[in-house]
Amino acid sequence: MSPDIDSEYSVVAIDGPAASGKSTVARKLAKRLGFSYVNSGGLYRAVAWLAGEHELRPDDWSAVSAQVRKSVFNFYLRNKELSFLIDGNNPDTHLRDEKVNRTVSAISAIPEVREFLVAHLREFLTWDNLVMEGRDIGSIVFPDTPYKFYIDASLEVRAQRRAAQGQRDDLFFRDRADASRRASPLTIAEDAHVIDSSSLTIDGVVGEIIGRLKIKRLPEALGLDS
Ligand code: DC
Repeated sequence: MSPDIDSEYSVVAIDGPAASGKSTVARKLAKRLGFSYVNSGGLYRAVAWLAGEHELRPDDWSAVSAQVRKSVFNFYLRNKELSFLIDGNNPDTHLRDEKVNRTVSAISAIPEVREFLVAHLREFLTWDNLVMEGRDIGSIVFPDTPYKFYIDASLEVRAQRRAAQGQRDDLFFRDRADASRRASPLTIAEDAHVIDSSSLTIDGVVGEIIGRLKIKRLPEALGLDS
């Protein structure tokens, strides 16, 4: 699965830019397959929230890294979804705050933050079969998984989706920052199957992914009825 993970479980990697629809697709896909769902962006958002709570500037790499080392992270699967506490607090309701939207790209460019989170993301595969979504899941976190998808959509469609969620989120800025950072930028893994979701429904995208997984014999191999 990855150079240093030995697991009996499988992982479906779903990458793509912000608001491409990958979270909704990944969650639905995980339900259909009976896999656990991991939204890796939530972890980067949680670190952005943590930095804000401690009034740290996102460009102060050493202060943010030191805080991550100091804090206690507890991860667990609840109802087949990743949950976590940081220093005993559940940051869930803050992960979509405007301040987090504004700072998370800078936070996720910090190499030590990435190393810390990537090690945990890999460890989750020793717990269960996973559908994991993010920016570098197929390229860096699990480069050896045969099940990789990249979901895209036009900037216009993605902006409409965010607006419909009632969120302020500068997608153009985040796309540029996520794709241009030095550490594990957003890229399309060479062997990923790319889906443009601009004119597809969620079920259409999930159906396309399941079709590919069937060709690759994933559900059959696991004895799943999908
Ligand atoms: O998927 P999202 O928009 O919630 O992700 C929030 C930010 O986290 C995104 O702007 C970049 C970062 N991220 C990352 O660098 N690597 C990942 N695997 C997932 C998210």
